[in-house]
Amino acid sequence: MENFDVVIIGAGASGLFCAAQAGYRGRKVLVLDHANKAGKKILMSGGGRCNFTNLDAAPKHFLSANPHFCISALKRYTPNDFVELVDRHGLEYVEKAPGQYFCQHSAKDLLNILLTECEWSGSEIRLDTSIKTIAKQEQGFHLLTSQGEIQCESLVVASGGLSIPTLGASGYGHQVAEQFGLKVLPRRASLVPITIQPTMKEKLSTLSGVSVEIEASANGMSFKEPMLFTHRGISGPAILQISNFWQPGDELQLNLLPDLDPEAHFKALRNDKPKRALETELNSLLPKRLVEVIKQDLPWMSKPMAELSNDNLAELIQYLTHFDVQPNGTEGYRTAEVTLGGIDTNEVSSKTFECNSVKGLYFIGEVLDVTGFLGGYNFQFAWSSGFAAGQFV
Ligand code: FDA
Repeated sequence: MENFDVVIIGAGASGLFCAAQAGYRGRKVLVLDHANKAGKKILMSGGGRCNFTNLDAAPKHFLSANPHFCISALKRYTPNDFVELVDRHGLEYVEKAPGQYFCQHSAKDLLNILLTECEWSGSEIRLDTSIKTIAKQEQGFHLLTSQGEIQCESLVVASGGLSIPTLGASGYGHQVAEQFGLKVLPRRASLVPITIQPTMKEKLSTLSGVSVEIEASANGMSFKEPMLFTHRGISGPAILQISNFWQPGDELQLNLLPDLDPEAHFKALRNDKPKRALETELNSLLPKRLVEVIKQDLPWMSKPMAELSNDNLAELIQYLTHFDVQPNGTEGYRTAEVTLGGIDTNEVSSKTFECNSVKGLYFIGEVLDVTGFLGGYNFQFAWSSGFAAGQFV
């Protein structure tokens, strides 16, 4: 039987970060992971360059049944705190969009920082280890693992969400919560590409790889960012963002002309350039391949502007501002970046991340019902929650 002060389940973003904090406090820490490598999601993230934080991270960028839950942790460990840490390690990074920080070279550089922090703090990481049972004892917990028996005072569940099972994701953290009688809210794949009805997919098949700046809106939220057509449907930042708010059956509005007042624009054009074909104009506003597809529905587009009636313009504007791709679902956990929903945050202290009803049991990171927007927010919550718990375990 081995004894540790703290066992952390999950050598991902929040688990590694928490381990280092606890280790620096002099706690004897063991991190367990069933995968053969630590931080697999970190390595895959941000297209291999990990968007590790967003300076603008604030509670408004997170979805949760309790929107106030994340406030305390985000305040106590801020994006600037994390940037200070990576600066101390000499990480080279770039600000791709305002406040959105990515590794300049590779996500490996960021993972190495976390592993170095664990090493410096004396925390041990054990991979290829699965947990068979967890039992609460009078003092702490007993774990039966594939590598033997372990006792610990504090147990931290940092096993993440369900997205991308091939990277080691599992619902284990939710199972542990249920074992201890905690409420787990419904989960679904999010920050995920949206699929479309087969007939529409066929019609849009020539557009695979085409990107266009749009405004995507659903359930009162809008995002103006690029959308990418894929061979399965639609993706790109605008679609991933709106997938946090849209579900099959909901209305999804895609505005292909987000920066224009289309009525004023097309009416002025009809006056100023009456001989110009509408198609030529659209080719200057939208990708050519997309205009070809639109032409199948609006064959009169090749006419000169002067010949277009107000009804034609109204039809055109409705078509372009409510581009209907007939969405029917999402690509699911296979490609989703996150899991929306999870362990009810009312079960957990927002200060310590310790479970209210089970002393010594902690939950951090994505396993909780806290989901960030796209843009580095999810990693920031992993750091902030890992830091917070690391002070108390
Ligand atoms: P995380 O998933 O990091 O770690 C969980 C760990 O637990 C894993 O190592 C897993 O193997 C282990 N585990 C699971 N079940 C277990 C079990 N039964 N036994 C033992 N171990 C177990 N976010 C962001 O802010 N910026 C970005 O650029 C991206 N990009 C991105 C790309 C892709 C492709 C994905 C899938 C996700 C992102 N994300 C992101 C989201 C981000 O990766 C995610 O929110 C954090 O990694 C969550 O950190 P956690 O520590 O909670 O879980």
